[in-house]
Amino acid sequence: MNTDHQQQIQKAAQLIGSAKCAVALTGSGISVESGIPPFRGAGGLWEKMDPMEVAHIDSFRRDPARVWELLIRDLKECLDRARPNPAHLALARLEAMGILKGVITQNVDGLHQAAGNRDVIEFHGTFAWQRCMDCQRRLETHRVELDQIPPRCECGGILRPDCVFFGEMIPPEHLHRSRQLSERCDVMLVVGTSAVVQPAAFMPVIAKQCGATVIEINPESTPLTANISDLLVKGPAGQVFTGIMAAMADYTVR
Ligand code: OAD
Repeated sequence: MNTDHQQQIQKAAQLIGSAKCAVALTGSGISVESGIPPFRGAGGLWEKMDPMEVAHIDSFRRDPARVWELLIRDLKECLDRARPNPAHLALARLEAMGILKGVITQNVDGLHQAAGNRDVIEFHGTFAWQRCMDCQRRLETHRVELDQIPPRCECGGILRPDCVFFGEMIPPEHLHRSRQLSERCDVMLVVGTSAVVQPAAFMPVIAKQCGATVIEINPESTPLTANISDLLVKGPAGQVFTGIMAAMADYTVR
């Protein structure tokens, strides 16, 4: 580990350790070390397929079997196996310490809850449940049999993940609460997101405008890095958080 990196870790630990109301915005990068591929960048899902073809609600309505085959079936297998990594566990620990007041996640993998976080806003919905397109009945994803594609509800309707597809609205209560948390926090942790999908990517802008310190954790810089972030700690989230939590032991007296 070089000195610059160590200093960034120390700085982040100091800022987080003295925060009164920290909030995290997370994206697919936080789950990469749990074996879930990101959407963009090297090895990303959108390198292999066009999101407007497979993740837009119009495509799903037009040909649900195709979207289940191309995207959802593999995702189900991948998410069934995934477990929280040290980054998810660190955020749960920060909540238990009373520092972190909420997680706004763009992820649908449920790993923040699996790690122990209780206040999680699932901005883009959840993959843990499927919903019938006809009767709206919800069924836990792990109970869904994939012997027919697309899988169907008892009523015969087609099942879809309870996620937000492109072309759909963010649930208004999620947007409202995310804005509130972003306005109130004194530190915002922006972890593993490319910050290119709106309105999620606007939350750090709101936080910054309201006076918060914005800390990014990401191996790459993002559109937020130059003007919104106060600090970018470069590296995989699990490794970075392991360093931050170790350094915080020196600063935190809670
Ligand atoms: P992206 O795939 O766009 O971005 C992933 C980010 O994680 C990139 O900035 C990577 O540099 C970073 N990254 C990669 N490995 C990492 C690691 N080990 N630790 C930390 N960061 C790492 O994912 P999101 O920003 O979450 O929306 O994408 C936003 C939305 O676009 C998703 O919620 C999804 C997608 O299309 C919908 O499906 C509606």
